[in-house]
Amino acid sequence: MRFFMPTELLDGENCVGKYSEKFSALGKKALIVTGKKSARENGSFEDVTTALDKQGIAWTEFAEVEENPSVETVMKGRDAAIQSEADFIVGIGGGSPLDAAKAIALMAAHPDAGADSLYGGDLDSEALPMAAVPTTCGTGSEATGVAVLTRHELKTKGSIPYRIFPKVAFIDGKYLVDAPMSLILSTAVDALAHIIESYFMLKADDYSRMAALHGLKVWTRSKPVLLGERYINAQDRKNLMCASTLAGMAIAQTGTSIPHALSYPLTYDLGIPHGKAVGYFLGGFLEAAPDEGKWELLSTGGFRNLSEFKGFLKKLLGEVAVTEEALNRGYEMVKDDPKRMECSIFQVGHEGLRKIVYEHN
Ligand SMILES: [Fe+2]
Repeated sequence: MRFFMPTELLDGENCVGKYSEKFSALGKKALIVTGKKSARENGSFEDVTTALDKQGIAWTEFAEVEENPSVETVMKGRDAAIQSEADFIVGIGGGSPLDAAKAIALMAAHPDAGADSLYGGDLDSEALPMAAVPTTCGTGSEATGVAVLTRHELKTKGSIPYRIFPKVAFIDGKYLVDAPMSLILSTAVDALAHIIESYFMLKADDYSRMAALHGLKVWTRSKPVLLGERYINAQDRKNLMCASTLAGMAIAQTGTSIPHALSYPLTYDLGIPHGKAVGYFLGGFLEAAPDEGKWELLSTGGFRNLSEFKGFLKKLLGEVAVTEEALNRGYEMVKDDPKRMECSIFQVGHEGLRKIVYEHN
């Protein structure tokens, strides 16, 4: 068994400001990689720049990361890193900016490499040091080495074949204060999918399941909030962020499975948010799973049975406006891909996959 998660996690209110000296250990000139708006709105950008200023660290900003960032955006970010002579990267935001920041950190350390190398696998994993400041509660990217980018030439998303772990992550639930409930729900379902998928991976072991199952325990504490039964409070925000990071620690060991693979055309073709797209297949995936693991997950999550779980998911997700074409594309992409079909401890086969895609959600 092996557990590798080399990121220092600092979790707590105002942790960016409290531990600003952590940035000094990364370098002297930072490139802040973020989305167009939200980091400025939720206070994370100001916290980071105040901390950098306090440490006397120069910084510039690359605030052009779109939802589901593209290879092209990463290459622009690399140019920004080189022009500004940044020697480390700070990623702020949800999965999109954090994943883009990792890929930019990689490419900035390989200034002569072309965009093809991002998926070509011909580079070593050397990258500029990176700090991560997550502002949503789903990606877990702060605790993984994975970066998922959009590949327009293939009309889908995919992980780059390099592992770039942040050196340090600052996890502060306060950045969720102004997040719309729809974003919290969608990202919370993404974290739940990471937990469930990771649990059943061939690479799963007692260490990765420790992270997955404890993540589920922490996640479950805020179920009433997700169901709209009470208002969200600071402890819930902390729980949801922590659960997302624990789920990230789990998938950092195991990778993800069929629901993630099926979700990519739904997001690429229809713009359905990642968590919602993954959640669409999650009930069917759990249904297909072996009983022993299924019951451990359901009981840890406080569900009496599978149909209660599916009803809960439906309530959280609301309507997911899928199309036959996007479902078909997912099915066709996954059905003969051994990386997806043979990565779990159970095999669903074509018929089982068909049920997950078309029937069991
Ligand atoms: Fe995900």
